[in-house]
Amino acid sequence: MKLAYAVLLLPTTLYAQILGADSDIDQLVAQMDTSEKYSIVNGVGWISRKQQSGYYIGNEPAVDRLGIPSIKMQDAAQGFRTTDERIIGEVTAWPCSLGVASAWDVNLMEDWGHALGKEHRAKGANMILGPSVNVHRVAKGGRNAEYLSGESPKLGEEMARSYVRGVQEEGVMAVVKHFALNNQENDRNTIDSHADERTMQEVYYPPFKAAVDEGVASFMCSYNLVNGTHSCGNEDLLVRDLKERMGFEGFVMSDWWAVNDVGYQNAGLDMDMPGDDGYFSSDNLDASDDGRIDDMVTRVLTQMKKVGLLGTDDQPAAFPNLCDIPGDCDDLFYNATATSAAHEALALSIATQSVALLKNEDDVLPISGAKTIAVVGSACDASNNISAMLKVWDLGNYYVMGGSGRVIAEDPVSIVRGLQEGAGDTITIVESTTDDLDQALAAMENADVVLTCGATTSTEGHDRASLLVDQDDFITQLVEAATIPSVVLLNTPGATVISNFSGKASAVLNMFLGGQATGTAWSNIIYGVESPSGKLPVTFPLSEEDAVEPCSSSPCTYDEKLEVGWRGLVEKDVDFPFGHGLSYTTFDYEVKSKDGLKFELNVENTGKSAGREVVQLYVTYPVAEDAPPVELKGFKKTGVLEPGQSELLEFDISPDDLRSWSTNAGDFVAVSGDFQFDFASSSRDVRVSDTVTV
Ligand SMILES: *[C@@H]1O[C@H](CO)[C@@H](O)[C@H](O)[C@H]1NC(C)=O
Ligand SMILES: *[C@@H]1O[C@H](CO)[C@@H](O)[C@H](O)[C@H]1NC(C)=O
Ligand SMILES: *[C@@H]1O[C@H](CO)[C@@H](O)[C@H](O)[C@H]1NC(C)=O
Ligand SMILES: *[C@@H]1O[C@H](CO)[C@@H](O)[C@H](O)[C@H]1NC(C)=O
Repeated sequence: MKLAYAVLLLPTTLYAQILGADSDIDQLVAQMDTSEKYSIVNGVGWISRKQQSGYYIGNEPAVDRLGIPSIKMQDAAQGFRTTDERIIGEVTAWPCSLGVASAWDVNLMEDWGHALGKEHRAKGANMILGPSVNVHRVAKGGRNAEYLSGESPKLGEEMARSYVRGVQEEGVMAVVKHFALNNQENDRNTIDSHADERTMQEVYYPPFKAAVDEGVASFMCSYNLVNGTHSCGNEDLLVRDLKERMGFEGFVMSDWWAVNDVGYQNAGLDMDMPGDDGYFSSDNLDASDDGRIDDMVTRVLTQMKKVGLLGTDDQPAAFPNLCDIPGDCDDLFYNATATSAAHEALALSIATQSVALLKNEDDVLPISGAKTIAVVGSACDASNNISAMLKVWDLGNYYVMGGSGRVIAEDPVSIVRGLQEGAGDTITIVESTTDDLDQALAAMENADVVLTCGATTSTEGHDRASLLVDQDDFITQLVEAATIPSVVLLNTPGATVISNFSGKASAVLNMFLGGQATGTAWSNIIYGVESPSGKLPVTFPLSEEDAVEPCSSSPCTYDEKLEVGWRGLVEKDVDFPFGHGLSYTTFDYEVKSKDGLKFELNVENTGKSAGREVVQLYVTYPVAEDAPPVELKGFKKTGVLEPGQSELLEFDISPDDLRSWSTNAGDFVAVSGDFQFDFASSSRDVRVSDTVTV
């Protein structure tokens, strides 16, 4: 044990006082015997990597004697994970987390957090294995669809906070993951990520730090190595950076089977999951290291208490335990209906608001009046093969991603079905749902406009082989051949290269993997029930060469440093930039007042239909050799503005947001000089600029 760690942890009671852990918890810990202590930091319910009946994806046993309920954990990225066939249809298949983030609406994200918390509780769980927040470094990253930060630490901060708040207010603990530098899926157990300290502090840590500030219960350390040491056994990462510098008071759990050595508890790991590897058994934990086990247990119980899971004799638990593993939860787990009409409506609303309108030449959209629409291409009628997915855990499709974040939808609305259901009396739909060009052209013969669909999916465990959609050839040929306006609808798991057809198409729109309400949400947008209001949280580059590839060998050095994603492409042409998303209406911006770092910005709807705008604040630091590249520092979304209506948005930037990491100081330090503030509709569409001297 290194000195710094010993100072931090001993004596435990003093440490607990410093952290503000209350004496109830100290007393509880004092009453626990050694085997009880070890039992709640080591998962149960798995044997030889097989989940046992009666258990959740992650489980800690109850200590009945002391009124400590069992911890029951379930994934996460698109809702309550459908680990059993019976659960399908009982839970909502939400849009992927990246899709929720692409609405750029912190209130919507918090609503989703509440809904996730409610569904987990309805299923007997009291912990969700989310949010996933890693900033996208590798465009092909297999789990980018669940990483809600997109390419921006700031977007990640805001979204992580809202998610954690929503979930934990429902009495469900949240787990922010995967800490840290888990930026690719290829070779994820062996890849050794190397980033300099400033890059980690300024790019990759902020969403995690925001979750700490919001009081997130737990962190999940990742499979990969950081600086040559596995994350879950990395003392610099878990003790120095997380517990000391960020002040994290909750507990760190391993990713599933990410523990490779008995010593990890001395590097800051508090819980071994799912627990069948034996590393955290009482035999293996150093019996003389009593202070450490008490700290681990204190951290777990403190978080359980904080979200309302522990009652006392005179104060019942805010969120009473619904059931205990094993067995007692079966009826909830397999039989309870967690979804509701309200959640179905929210899933539709999120999917609709997640759509980014990338291009809309001659206002081809929305489609209204008497029209004949050709809907062509296989992705417009995407299949949802439930039996195939039940056999292969990491199989995704065009509605949901593959892997642990997958929630299989019972009957997702395909695009063509959604468009038919929303068509009304005056619109005629002619469909051809194969990728046969001749059939498509035949369907288009008497049509006024053609809609075609492009999609691809992704999965945990490996990165995407290509950034193209699976129908790239078909769509490219189709838009080339079309003599009527062509509209391309995309369902994607992250950054996508669409430059083969984006130039020729009249309109292009992106929705990330949209869950059960996919087609209905498309219908809302295409027929103008709602104006699109999503913005890309990632760049759509012109070609794959412009994006960072997954590393194929170690060390994987983050040479681009702060120039991650869009910030590395500012000098290059891109197809559609970070933050981009059009509307069916137009907006004017005007600075109404300025007081130090506080701005009031008036946004007026100057067009002909209702809509919402996301205003983004990009900040350029004073010129200096070590100045960071331009960065998103804030964003605000208006409510629905009718034509002529306006809304005053307040941007109140904290001086802390204008600092920069000093490796010498081991802290963020103030930067002074002239900062340029750009209020913008995308990272490349600045509307109003100002200079602020700090
Ligand atoms: C990783 O290595 C860099 C460069 O030596 C160092 O600055 C940083 O503190 C290390 N971080 C961790 C978490 O080990
Ligand atoms: C689930 O419901 C079915 C039908 O009502 C019932 O037969 C079954 O016992 C229930 N399962 C559990 C685990 O309670
Ligand atoms: C679903 O997938 C299975 C393979 O698991 C295959 O045999 C079956 O034909 C597929 N069904 C459909 C409708 O595509
Ligand atoms: C589409 O783009 C890819 C990659 O940029 C290229 O290999 C392919 O030939 C293009 N296809 C067409 C039809 O232009």
